[in-house]
Amino acid sequence: MTNIAIVYYSATGNIAAMAKAIGEGAASVGAEVRVRRVTETAPAEAIASNPKWQEFFDASAGEPVATLEDLEWADGIALGSPTRFGGPASQLKAFLDTTGGLWFRGALVNTVGTAFTTASTAHGGLESTTLAINNHFYHWGSLIMPLGYGDEHVSKVTGNPYGASHVSRKGATPDEDTLKACFIQGKQLATIATWIAAGKAAN
Ligand SMILES: Cc1cc2nc3c(=O)[nH]c(=O)nc-3n(C[C@H](O)[C@H](O)[C@H](O)COP(=O)(O)O)c2cc1C
Repeated sequence: MTNIAIVYYSATGNIAAMAKAIGEGAASVGAEVRVRRVTETAPAEAIASNPKWQEFFDASAGEPVATLEDLEWADGIALGSPTRFGGPASQLKAFLDTTGGLWFRGALVNTVGTAFTTASTAHGGLESTTLAINNHFYHWGSLIMPLGYGDEHVSKVTGNPYGASHVSRKGATPDEDTLKACFIQGKQLATIATWIAAGKAAN
């Protein structure tokens, strides 16, 4: 069984929906999947200042939170965050900054890593956020998996080979095309992680 961890931060639910679709893609090829949010670190008054943020915060309160054990358990890891000023949100970064011990032990070496994001505009930083998330994989010794153009849905419809992305214009939620790209990314992540695990077992 291939283990896939999808770890994300979402303030208003877009990344959460994408994370779920990535999980469905991974599960479609038989992987065991954990979809985990990171802890919200923003002050209560900041959350309360945005009704959609407060609504999502309240709705997701019962969802399991990512732990270091989830990363160590995983053969493949997808990391997702909304774009914040062209990079990932501090909430995801805060969790990733607790992985020093795993890094020191080489616990994440040869995991397969992939990233996804959303922003409110097409040129507001989708690629830069994806690439910034990917920096963590280099340090962990993971093998970075782009979404690529292997599936025609990406080459002909959604167009972003760095990782699944969503343009949330005026707060729009991820549409079917975006969720399909996420599903493809999850399926691909689980497939490649399975190949890597088989190669490890054979050597
Ligand atoms: C503090 C802050 C910074 C943001 N920075 C950007 C940005 O640099 N570029 C952009 O296009 N959208 C930016 N956005 C918009 C979010 O990335 C966008 O609304 C995203 O879809 C929210 O995802 P979520 O529903 O998972 O929280 C920003 C939003 C906030 C609150």
